[in-house]
Amino acid sequence: MRIVLLGPPGAGKGTQAVMLAERLKYLHLSTGDILRENVKKGTDIGKKARAFMEKGDLVPDDIVIEMMLDTIKAGAKGKDFILDGFPRTIYQAKKIGTELDNLGMPIEMVVYFETSLKTVVFRLTGRRLCKNCGANYHVVNMPPKKQGVCDKCGGELYLRKDDNEDTIKKRLEVFNSQTKELIDYYKDKGILEEVSGDLDAETVYKKLFGILNDRDKVRN
Ligand code: AP5
Repeated sequence: MRIVLLGPPGAGKGTQAVMLAERLKYLHLSTGDILRENVKKGTDIGKKARAFMEKGDLVPDDIVIEMMLDTIKAGAKGKDFILDGFPRTIYQAKKIGTELDNLGMPIEMVVYFETSLKTVVFRLTGRRLCKNCGANYHVVNMPPKKQGVCDKCGGELYLRKDDNEDTIKKRLEVFNSQTKELIDYYKDKGILEEVSGDLDAETVYKKLFGILNDRDKVRN
């Protein structure tokens, strides 16, 4: 199945995408992760994207669309995948929708994680990531066994540059002004599902998995 996870920053898109991808053997394609990797490597995309990301603005549509299309064409043809954080504007949604339809691999389900402002700010300011393997923690909700150290690989944990209060505020404004309208866009297409992003990660996962099962598409 080809799934899009939609929601404000900190809604838990990445957390759920990793859990689902592991369970279902789906590809997990996160625009944020791919962009950060490009910034780290200093590629042309990374150089163009960096300032937008650090300010909490969206990277221009054409850069992101081309990057994601290349990624999908290179590794996701004929496969099930989860798009995490993409599309994020109506323009991106229309463009990727047409391209994927033409490839015979349309988006089949979009899940919107409705999440309160309080949850989002608490989660993002407490999020820590592993510098080495990218594993995701929260200082209160999902702490590592040893403070500052990744359970999985022993790597150092860090706070994302855009996870400070000012940039979080900007990212939320951007979500409300440019991404939220995708909820109605996909509702009109009849492929939208909604789950509360405020619930704990296991509960969200069970609900998500239940929705997938209901659609009778889960590979066991
Ligand atoms: P991106 O990396 O996609 O960031 P985001 O959308 O702001 O989302 P986050 O990664 O911050 O949150 P999440 O929902 O994945 O939450 P997570 O699971 O980590 O994008 C970054 C930037 O890249 C953008 O600002 C933009 O500049 C650019 N960009 C990306 N895509 C783009 C696009 N399509 N177009 C243009 N520009 C684009 O969880 C957060 C924390 O909470 C973690 O600590 C986690 O452990 C914890 N947690 C998660 N779920 C739960 C739960 N249920 N209960 C308790 N704790 C939880």
